[in-house]
Amino acid sequence: MKAKEIVVMVNGERRRLSVRANETLLEALRGGLGVHSPKEGCGRGDCGACTVLLDGKAVRSCLVLAMEAEGREVTTVEGVGGGKMHAVQEECLARNVFQCGFCAPGMILAAAALLERNPEPSKKEVREALAGNLCRCTGYEPIVEAVMAAAKRRQASKVEGQRSKVGGRKG
Ligand code: FES
Ligand code: FES
Repeated sequence: MKAKEIVVMVNGERRRLSVRANETLLEALRGGLGVHSPKEGCGRGDCGACTVLLDGKAVRSCLVLAMEAEGREVTTVEGVGGGKMHAVQEECLARNVFQCGFCAPGMILAAAALLERNPEPSKKEVREALAGNLCRCTGYEPIVEAVMAAAKRRQASKVEGQRSKVGGRKG
């Protein structure tokens, strides 16, 4: 099958690669680009282990063709915090919510996408946003609690940022 050269922004970096017409974004990331954090679980859209952000939206990379990502922004767990750890990562780590960690990149990205579109979700909304991400090891509740704590922290630092801007103006 004929391959095509495409350019994709991966975690803010311009990457060029050659993909087959039927190659999935998951295969391209893991094989062509050596980005192994998106995992292959079911390979058919059921488990969420392969979740990445495509232009900020959580997608299952096993269901997206690599060619569809041409010229677009792909974010994996390595890039979700923009050079530092995302609040969801920090809270998950601090609470030790994962065991084997296979589901962790997908869970973290699904949660990060949720907090972008809904910075103050209810627990129910967090559960719904993570419903398609399966974990074989642990209870889901600690993960939900970590996402709630991350949302609170992000809100608190936003308020703090606004306060210091106002304070700065006065001074
Ligand atoms: Fe993509 Fe399971 S590997 S959803
Ligand atoms: Fe093992 Fe979630 S921690 S699958």
